[in-house]
Amino acid sequence: VTYNVAAKPSRRSKFALAAFIETNINSGTDGGLYAETIRNRAFQDNVNNAANTNNALGRGSLLHWTGTSKGTKLTLSLDNSLSAALPQSAIVTGQKTDSCGIANSGFEGFSVTKQPYKLAFYARSPTGKPTTVPVEVGLYSSDSSKTFAKQTLPLKLSGEWQKFETTLTPSQAASNNNNVFAIKTQGACNDGFQLNLVSLTPPTWQGTVARPDLAQALADIKPKYVRLPGGNDLEGNNIPSWFNWTNAVGDLKNRPGRTPTWTSDWNTEGLGLMELMNLTEKWGAQAVLGIYAGYSLDGKAVPQNQLGPYIQSALNQLHFLLDTTGRWADLRKSYGRAAPYKFQHVEIGNEDWLGAAVQTYGPYRWAAFRDAIAKEFPQLTLIASTLLNGVEGAKAVDNHFYATPSQLFAFAEGMDATSRAIPIWELEYAVINNGLTNDSDIYSGPGRLKHPTLIGALAEATFLAGAERNGDIFYSAAYAPLFQNEGTNLTQWTPDLLSFNAGQMVKSTSYYIQYAWGNYPIEQIHDTSLSTPTNSSHIYHSFGSDGQGHLVAKLINTNAGARDVKVQLGSGAKLSANGAKSWQMKGNDPQAANTLSNPQAVVPQSSSNELPPGAQLTGDGSLTVTLPAYSATVLNLALA
Ligand code: AHR
Repeated sequence: VTYNVAAKPSRRSKFALAAFIETNINSGTDGGLYAETIRNRAFQDNVNNAANTNNALGRGSLLHWTGTSKGTKLTLSLDNSLSAALPQSAIVTGQKTDSCGIANSGFEGFSVTKQPYKLAFYARSPTGKPTTVPVEVGLYSSDSSKTFAKQTLPLKLSGEWQKFETTLTPSQAASNNNNVFAIKTQGACNDGFQLNLVSLTPPTWQGTVARPDLAQALADIKPKYVRLPGGNDLEGNNIPSWFNWTNAVGDLKNRPGRTPTWTSDWNTEGLGLMELMNLTEKWGAQAVLGIYAGYSLDGKAVPQNQLGPYIQSALNQLHFLLDTTGRWADLRKSYGRAAPYKFQHVEIGNEDWLGAAVQTYGPYRWAAFRDAIAKEFPQLTLIASTLLNGVEGAKAVDNHFYATPSQLFAFAEGMDATSRAIPIWELEYAVINNGLTNDSDIYSGPGRLKHPTLIGALAEATFLAGAERNGDIFYSAAYAPLFQNEGTNLTQWTPDLLSFNAGQMVKSTSYYIQYAWGNYPIEQIHDTSLSTPTNSSHIYHSFGSDGQGHLVAKLINTNAGARDVKVQLGSGAKLSANGAKSWQMKGNDPQAANTLSNPQAVVPQSSSNELPPGAQLTGDGSLTVTLPAYSATVLNLALA
């Protein structure tokens, strides 16, 4: 294929990469991005959590906790609650035993490294009488044969809850994740102790509450937007379990959490509104704030005459995040954040094209939120979650696209012909099915992927190339979902961008495409004509300039063999190899996938100050490149 690329840009690309954080899915926040390692830390989990139809408190259990000795008795108590938000606690007692205690098995174990872990918990005397209970707190192998870290604490208990804090620094790292955390008495148990909100966190990422490997991986793709906090998790399984931001801010002991939408673990909302906003800021991105729009996953909508409190809550949330002074700003300041957050985009609802949602979104829900928010926050851009059925006045729409590779190839080809009527954000997309089977349902058919594949990632690259070369109308896109805890029963949705367990993480093929688009963005679009149409070459492209005098060429070869392409610039302009940068991902097996057990099946290469192998400049300043089979190539070359 020969590409004739205009020497000068024709228009600005507004396209910028986004990330989509949905709390709770795949134990990707509790058990993942949120660095907390204690599972069921406030005794809220229950095997029936997902069926909790009214977000009721007090349905917890001792799931993921065990006694440390045969004589230990663990009791779930609703007496003498730590707080109204966290009513359950555990009472640890033991009769005729040398020691009693309680151990937590974490999110499928604990990764133990030689770093300081912050431990905090609340305890009281179960009888209410003052007593001193010497305890040992520590990290141990699950079979108790090894102690990695331990501390003794003389717990001076009374009838009041007290917070105890210390640091555990393992003297050696563990060779696997089969480890537990425990608190056990040193000596006789007597009246034991009552415990709640047990927290153990290794060092976190850049002063946030995030697990460093996952947060850094996200930082490295350089998203410009972060959509949060969902997705289906914004909506909740039913109206009482909607994302009520007031329960997701402030002291952890006052956060009740809520019924999980995806996992069976109670959603702690420890990675709450401000924690998500702080992370977004640290990533150098701006939030696209999802606002609950009065519709939940059981298909029920809040009736029009009862929407008022939900609209008021959305307004309060925006005042809390954006105001400089006043009641809500003061509340934010009291939680340690003086400056307002900076963001421009608010999405009202999630996927309101689906099911019964469409019957109420256009008819009344959208307009009610639109008018109230626009009145108090005229500076914000309101994104609709659909344009169907009467939606008016939206400044943008969020479309979602889960597909097979061929569906995405076809879509990418059609992107040049997209209507220019309203900016499009694609804040959820991914290849989720290999397309090799005749699945009528790509979500549940046998072709559903466990992990992103090479060909899937290349299809996503064609989609991103189509979006950025049409960046006058495609403003953003976000792969979804981001995170997957690979533990047994911890994953509900595959494939995902980053898979991990308690200690290890793997970057998928799709991750690397996000990396390339985030690190080699374009600012301006260079129109291009092709000698061979894409539907016969199966080579996809985008050409733009980066605002610093460089042409950024992205070329995706989806063929099983190598292909030569030529890039010629119009009007006598030339490309120069000086300071050239490049990035390439390729492989022979289109179904290859990176997994925790095979993390380097497909790994990209990058280079600077040289052209990649197979690329050369000719005397007239044109570029010829041999694109390897199944490859994505990014070149950044000076425009002379
Ligand atoms: O990304 C997973 C889910 O897919 C989201 O929660 C939802 O918005 C979509 O249907």
